[in-house]
Amino acid sequence: ATGLNDVAVSKGKLYIGTATEMYKLNADAPYAAIASDIKEFGMITAENSMKWDATERTQGVWTFTGGDNLVNWAIANGQKLRGHTTVWHSQLPSWVGKYVHSWDVVNEPFNDDGTFRSSVFYTTLGTSYIATALHAARAADPDAKLYINDYNIDGLGAKSTAMANLVAQLKADNVPIDGIGIQGHLIVGAVPNNLQANFEQFAALGVEIAITELDIRMTLPVTPEKLAQQKADYKKVVAACNAVPACVGITVWEYTDKYSWVPGVFTSQGAALPWDDNLAKKPAYDGIVEGF
Ligand code: XIL
Repeated sequence: ATGLNDVAVSKGKLYIGTATEMYKLNADAPYAAIASDIKEFGMITAENSMKWDATERTQGVWTFTGGDNLVNWAIANGQKLRGHTTVWHSQLPSWVGKYVHSWDVVNEPFNDDGTFRSSVFYTTLGTSYIATALHAARAADPDAKLYINDYNIDGLGAKSTAMANLVAQLKADNVPIDGIGIQGHLIVGAVPNNLQANFEQFAALGVEIAITELDIRMTLPVTPEKLAQQKADYKKVVAACNAVPACVGITVWEYTDKYSWVPGVFTSQGAALPWDDNLAKKPAYDGIVEGF
């Protein structure tokens, strides 16, 4: 039998991935069986355990166990792993703010209008924190692809333009930057129509792109109509990535509604993923396959 990752790879993409965490993999065997099936997922992202509040909750006391366990789990299954994320204004340990120590790719640097977000990094260092983080990341791991990642940069618009301008400037300044991560936290029936044009403007900068956190949420309750629209929406996103060679892969932000972050954050919304609460495939699953 074939799966999402098999289909993606057969079309020249590098992977389909999912966000996950060890505590779920250890506790839920049917869930783990799908997450570890390389036919479905060729890459995993740590949903939380590689964030700064997890790795250095107390200053100077590092805990890599959660991330390391996921790395080992991925290796055991022959899967790739995406590191996520350190330089982000959110999920910071409470001691941060006294000074900044940054060494990894940058998450959510922009406001929706394309201005820079006033994070602890920006207010302390200005935009220089981005180049500093990228240089440090390259020095730490010369082989890793270095990305800047953000949401609401799926279609054309002010925020996408700001990202393109930032990456163009970084390249002009010889700052190491390999990719733009498009998170892809989208809404059923409201997926932008100009995804491909936007992906192409990013690719024209000479970087690769990836959809890093795809989910397409709906207002609950679930109906057959909304599931059909969601299938079309997943297909649309996948087709846009498939049409642009620089788009190397797609990660869903968890694969099952059972463990999605959406209901906890967006009031009355959910059912955003290709597998449902009972680990059954939804129409969205077929939408992904048809998008390739
Ligand atoms: C979310 C996780 O899914 C939640 O479990 C956690 O409580 C908050 O963070 N953009 C990102 C992700 O880059 O790291 C976020 O993940 C979702 C928004």
